[in-house]
Amino acid sequence: MKIAPSILSADFANLEKEVKRIEKAGADYVHIDAMDGVFVNNLTLGPNIVQAIRPHTKLPLDCHLMIQNPENLIPAFAKAGADIISIHVEATNHIHGAIQLIKNEKIAAGVVINPGTPLAMIKPILGDVDMVLVMTVNPGFGGQTFIESTLSKIKELKELRETNNYTYKIEVDGGISDQTISRALEAGADIFVAGSYIFGATDMDQAFKALRDAEHV
Ligand code: DX5
Ligand code: ZN
Repeated sequence: MKIAPSILSADFANLEKEVKRIEKAGADYVHIDAMDGVFVNNLTLGPNIVQAIRPHTKLPLDCHLMIQNPENLIPAFAKAGADIISIHVEATNHIHGAIQLIKNEKIAAGVVINPGTPLAMIKPILGDVDMVLVMTVNPGFGGQTFIESTLSKIKELKELRETNNYTYKIEVDGGISDQTISRALEAGADIFVAGSYIFGATDMDQAFKALRDAEHV
């Protein structure tokens, strides 16, 4: 399994230290939550923060854009050093075109699906994406409760990948902890975003271990 700590729960006054701390603890990606105050009711990190973090870690920067009409900002995130850009199917009228825009930047492209959005919305582009991010909470804030009804989407995505020889990774985001990770793993997720569980832990190494333990039961 791959773990992608969300720096949304990090200490923003010490981002360099926080990014180094997760790298040392064994993170596989840095998950960066960009929110625009329109698509979601919160305002967070933009391309300037991606650019500021870039020199301080070797980890791939996994940018999750919770931004209406993400087309406008894809070039800026790519230029800032994003390795993966994921955009919400609900945030654009032209998901296929927007995914192509990301691919034109020669970086990995992901599509994100909210808990209330049917999988059918992304079926036509599953052959075009490197990652499908299944939201396991409603986007906007860290520290929310994992929504169990999202598990069936993860299972179906895994089946669709097998049947059609698709190559996307399945990432889950929201409410992931030592209590919930095994269900998402069993359903078929490959990459696990965790914010409050990792940054809220008194012992970060122990938090990583507890998450990875789900693989060994
Ligand atoms: C929510 C964000 C998540 C969030 C996860 O909109 O996309 O990445 O930081 O936080 P936790 O792990 O606390 O649910
Ligand atoms: Zn996220």
